[in-house]
Amino acid sequence: MKKTIEQIKIEALKELETTSDRESIDAISVRYLGRKGMVTKFLRNISNLPIEERPGAGKRANEIKKDLDKLFKEALKKLEARSSITTDNQIDVSLPGRTVRQGSLHPITQITWQICEIFTRLGFDIVEGPEVETDYYNFEALNIPKNHPARDMQDTFYISKNIVLRTHTSPTQPRIMEKQKPPVRIIAPGKVYRCDSDLTHTPMFHQIEGLFVDKRVSFGDLKGMLTTFIHRIFDEQTSLRFRPSFFPFTEPSAEVDIRCVMCRGKGCRVCSQTGWLEIMGAGMVHPAVFENVGYDTNLYTGFAFGMGIERIAMLKYGIDDIRKYYENDLRFLRQF
Ligand code: FA5
Repeated sequence: MKKTIEQIKIEALKELETTSDRESIDAISVRYLGRKGMVTKFLRNISNLPIEERPGAGKRANEIKKDLDKLFKEALKKLEARSSITTDNQIDVSLPGRTVRQGSLHPITQITWQICEIFTRLGFDIVEGPEVETDYYNFEALNIPKNHPARDMQDTFYISKNIVLRTHTSPTQPRIMEKQKPPVRIIAPGKVYRCDSDLTHTPMFHQIEGLFVDKRVSFGDLKGMLTTFIHRIFDEQTSLRFRPSFFPFTEPSAEVDIRCVMCRGKGCRVCSQTGWLEIMGAGMVHPAVFENVGYDTNLYTGFAFGMGIERIAMLKYGIDDIRKYYENDLRFLRQF
């Protein structure tokens, strides 16, 4: 009798080994442990055994019943764990695909590239200068001596006594002229820094410097070049004006205004009711700057200009707060 219950166990284990799904495990469990199962029948028939064998056989059959029950439950659990892994990894080919959002260039980069393209078509080369600049190139070489009141025009971030974060792209003028003899025809885009922040000013912004030096370059050439540029970046209908101004490194100097693109000159909040918007400074290169770089002032003349890229982008896209460009709000940036 004892041998038989052991045999029942061996058979049950062999069957369990060959199962691979829930239904067959359930079926084996019923066949061995169910009401009419082999182990149950064995326990029911213990009363037919000789009296001295009954306690040992009963004890052993109950142990086997418990063991088998545990093994069946474990087999089911393993199966469930395996099937949940497979479900997780399964690819549902019927689902719609996930769109990968394409990134795009920052609006300021886009405008910078557009401006550079217009000027390269007009024959200008693109150069770059350092953002951390010496006092000499940022000021002195541009005819702004130490303690000169003109330094107040630009709220400077000083790194040390003689090192600054450049306040404009104009230092590229003496830097390039020191290296290159005329003719010079360059533009220099880049970041500049000023301690300044409001609706139309940010502490970091971008400028593009322009410099044209050759024999017989006149203010008329400057006007022609900038008129062509403004008509290309805005449209042919945009009127502009040159307003007398002062920069220590140009003489004569002018500020260039365009007819307000928001109100077409009628007067609005953006143009402070004047109908005009300032977009850049310009002028004929001051002879003192030429002397600092060793150019012959009897032979050469030149013009220079420097424009704020954010301002141009604001006017082109109708943005009324410059700080929006740097808040990294994707709802804003995705519109460009
Ligand atoms: C200059 O920076 C001169 N270097 C420009 C120049 C170059 C004149 C060559 C003559 C010859 P200004 O400080 O005006 O000039 O700045 C030029 C432009 O930069 C302004 O017209 C404006 O568009 C922009 N700008 C100035 N400050 C800020 C600021 N904090 N935030 C954003 N844009 C600014």
